[in-house]
Amino acid sequence: MGGSRGGDGLPVVGSMKTARILSGIKPTGRPHFGNYFGMMQPAIALQEKGEAYYFVADYHALTTVHEPGAMREYSRGVVLDFLACGLDPARAVLFLQSDVPEVTELAWILSCVTPMPMLENCHAYKDHVAKEKVPSHGLFAYPVLMAADILIYDSDIVPVGRDQKQHVEVTRDLAEKVNRMFGNVFTVPAPSIRDEVAVVTGLDGRKMSKSYGNTIALFEEEKALKKKVMGITTDSTPVEAPKDPENSSIMSLYKLFASQSDVAAMESDFRSGGVGYGEFKKRLLGAILEYTAEFRARRVALEAEPGVAERVLEEGAERARVVARRTMERVRSAVGLR
Ligand code: ADP
Ligand code: TRP
Repeated sequence: MGGSRGGDGLPVVGSMKTARILSGIKPTGRPHFGNYFGMMQPAIALQEKGEAYYFVADYHALTTVHEPGAMREYSRGVVLDFLACGLDPARAVLFLQSDVPEVTELAWILSCVTPMPMLENCHAYKDHVAKEKVPSHGLFAYPVLMAADILIYDSDIVPVGRDQKQHVEVTRDLAEKVNRMFGNVFTVPAPSIRDEVAVVTGLDGRKMSKSYGNTIALFEEEKALKKKVMGITTDSTPVEAPKDPENSSIMSLYKLFASQSDVAAMESDFRSGGVGYGEFKKRLLGAILEYTAEFRARRVALEAEPGVAERVLEEGAERARVVARRTMERVRSAVGLR
């Protein structure tokens, strides 16, 4: 691809074809604000811009979730969270990765042309080895399955947080390699990463991540939310002294939720001194509650409606399967499987 891009980062693909947008999220727990700002919100915004395909990556979650009840609960939770935040199942196709098992067949075919060193260089695997843990083959092959996810739906754009950029690059490399070896089989995708939310800060100042235990869930109960916000790590600058807004987790989170004028006011209060971190945390808490009020109301309504997640997933799988099967016919024929 590598063609020209419009103002919103989408490729200009001409009038004949709308861009196909695809992303996935693992059901490894409750989605948090890193997931929301890094992936869910951009994905929801993009549902207006092309044909959007979003899925719950349960095959990928199997690398870490080994409890069937938890897997089901997290998967359903991700769907309801996504819907509550504004994903419109009439526009975007929302489905469960494992409802389209053809993707594992494509992963195998891609495995056969994937050099081991390419995977040995991927950060999730390297981190695992660095911690002297024994990686499963699934973890090692994770980027190949992700490439299959992306390529089987002929995706143009993949909205993700920065930590997934390397995986999209692996996908591009594999697509180009297959295209060279077997003719033009795949669309070569591009990541779409929003700089301002590429890395959302967690409660301890590191990247917000389930594996660091420093997350705020998107639908955190109010009491737990308050406890978490009031517990954000700060330095010990006294109330009266000026504070540095540039290196503050409170400030970087506040920017995601508050209006520009409220952000400017808080920055100015940081610099002038006389306001303590406790007060800043209260403002952050207020901003989060205000930002999520509508989502919360919708989430409660969805939870009360039986079978919503199941229905959406069923319809989504049907639509996704059509595309996946078409691609697989092309791939099988290209590599000589029939
Ligand atoms: P986690 O690190 O908590 O396990 P996932 O790996 O399930 O999160 O990430 C799902 C999506 O959310 C990916 O697109 C990822 O890039 C994005 N994401 C996760 N954490 C962050 C963060 N702190 N900032 C920005 N994006 C994030
Ligand atoms: N690996 C992604 C994550 O950890 C989830 C994912 C799986 C994904 N397959 C994908 C994201 C395909 C985008 C496209 O967050």
